[in-house]
Amino acid sequence: MKPSVILYESLPADLLSRLNEQYQVTEISALNAETVAEHADVFRHAVGLLGSGGKVDQTLLDSMPALKACSTISVGYDLFDVDALSARNIALMHTPTVLTDTVADTIMALVLASARRVTELDSWVKAGKWTKNIGPEQFSIDVHHKTLGIVGMGRIGKAVAQRARFGFDMEILYSARSAHKDAEERFSATRCELDELLKKSDFVCIILPLTDQTRHMIGAGQLALMKSSAILINAGRGPVVDEQALTHALKEKAIYGAGLDVFEQEPVPAQAELLTLPNVVTLPHVGSATHETRYAMKKDGVENLLAALSGQTDKNCVNSSALKK
Ligand code: GLV
Ligand code: GLV
Repeated sequence: MKPSVILYESLPADLLSRLNEQYQVTEISALNAETVAEHADVFRHAVGLLGSGGKVDQTLLDSMPALKACSTISVGYDLFDVDALSARNIALMHTPTVLTDTVADTIMALVLASARRVTELDSWVKAGKWTKNIGPEQFSIDVHHKTLGIVGMGRIGKAVAQRARFGFDMEILYSARSAHKDAEERFSATRCELDELLKKSDFVCIILPLTDQTRHMIGAGQLALMKSSAILINAGRGPVVDEQALTHALKEKAIYGAGLDVFEQEPVPAQAELLTLPNVVTLPHVGSATHETRYAMKKDGVENLLAALSGQTDKNCVNSSALKK
């Protein structure tokens, strides 16, 4: 009998058949307590887990004693207890490369939409309010030649810097734990402390993973450092920004606007006050969600799982160094 793999995201037929060649695949609608209970026997024997959007913690791992590899169809892996996985010698694979340009495009879309009030004015036109020549009430602010600050200069940060620098002639600031000389050379990016970045930037782009260190890293104190003409973009993980403090800053017009692809709670509750504010542009966590890139991520996810289950964890593995080979 083929070893068993659990799939908690839908795959196109060609990718599914690649898994089926070597593994007995059980598809479940989502990864949660109900589906685990329902398929307890399959979970007990499964060697692989592939999908996105479910919590993989000690409790789940206790129900999967045969598990050898998890493959998440995402770059972020905050839903995984990495220490617990490493302690059990389970590889954690992710998709850090294929989505870079698509997420950077999304971030530029949020920059442009929030500065130029694209969605707000679109609603205004569609509501039939364009009845005479536009005036200052419809004016917005420029993007080109402004200063863009990147918090978290990883692959996506660099792809944003490239667009901003060469597409829009922007000055690039960044804050990161370590210096990124390549970004300094290619985009004339200047590294600075977070406080200085917040004070100087016209656009602050948060592109950080969610960890104990980054949770609520942007709160009332940080927002207060921003210029009243500045815009905050968050496309990493929602809880990195204190949403209540952000709502307050937007309401008070302490900052000009915000562009958000991620929220503290997702889906963001329909009654959230944030959603009533005209100066915030929202997206439903679609940073990487194009047809092309979601296919590439699923393909990566399948290949990562197959590689890890055959003992290859040199590429796309989060905890490679912690695994006993
Ligand atoms: C999306 O948020 C991802 O982590 O890939
Ligand atoms: C992010 O890129 C960091 O170095 O903190």
